[in-house]
Amino acid sequence: MTTTQNPSSSAQADHQRFGDSPESVRETDHYQQEYIEDFADRWDRLIDWDARAEAEGDFFIKILREHGARSVLDVATGTGFHSVRLLKEGFDVVSADGSPNMLARAFRNARARDQLLRTAQADWRFLNRDIHEEFDAVICLGNSFTHLFKEKDRRKSLAEYYAVLKHNGILILDHRNYDRLLEGGSAVRQGKGNVYCGQDVEVGPEHVDEGLARFRYAFGDGSTYHLNMFPLRYGYVRRLMQEVGFQKITSFGDYQRGLENPDFYVHVAEKEYRFDDNSVSD
Ligand SMILES: C[S@@+](CC[C@H](N)C(=O)[O-])C[C@H]1O[C@@H](n2cnc3c(N)ncnc32)[C@H](O)[C@@H]1O
Repeated sequence: MTTTQNPSSSAQADHQRFGDSPESVRETDHYQQEYIEDFADRWDRLIDWDARAEAEGDFFIKILREHGARSVLDVATGTGFHSVRLLKEGFDVVSADGSPNMLARAFRNARARDQLLRTAQADWRFLNRDIHEEFDAVICLGNSFTHLFKEKDRRKSLAEYYAVLKHNGILILDHRNYDRLLEGGSAVRQGKGNVYCGQDVEVGPEHVDEGLARFRYAFGDGSTYHLNMFPLRYGYVRRLMQEVGFQKITSFGDYQRGLENPDFYVHVAEKEYRFDDNSVSD
């Protein structure tokens, strides 16, 4: 199915280089062109750190502590929101991202909050080429995994996350409720979302089909940006995780168990080998 909402202003300069046919841009590597410096500068207005911290509370910190995690690899650092939060909570964090623009912004954000990030520029598909430690947890948050367009990229990235984890480590990965979007529903249930909490930006899907969710981010200063993403279905993500070797997967909706039709899903996938149980929990 195809939905088209909020058509973009054609007069706007295409700094993100989507070209004449933006809906045909369905490439994993394109994220490098999307997180350009101007957009990285605006990202924090999009997420609003204080509002986001309030929305998620201590959800991730509790999960990490429940699993005894101390060392965390943030593979999608972005502008540093989770890396900084976890550092402040005493976790030992390495902050990776494929985009140098986002990492530079994250480093500055951390310095402004009296934290020093250990950064590594690394693409998920080749994570173990650049990261040579093992971690208790890998986090891939803020609807980041959606940037992978090919199934083999998603499998490879999950396998790379798996490999960098200690034998009983956990992966925490989230994504939008794309099932609802694909079925013609809206991106957020009501008001502002619980990840993109900024008041100065309008976020919405411009085009959705089974292979593309193109979102538009219109800021108060008149600037407009886009992200082209792959619409990840809930069941599909859980299946892929299981297929790369995670035996136990616990999923949450908007930071709760059992919430139907949330805006965001969070999956906690456990690497620990289970002799007696090969099923995926929920
Ligand atoms: C939606 S942002 C989320 C950032 C942050 N986690 C947050 O929640 O605010 C996605 C991030 O994933 C990074 N990214 C996308 N594809 C990647 C890839 N293949 N390898 C490494 N990083 C990637 C982008 O550079 C960007 O910083």
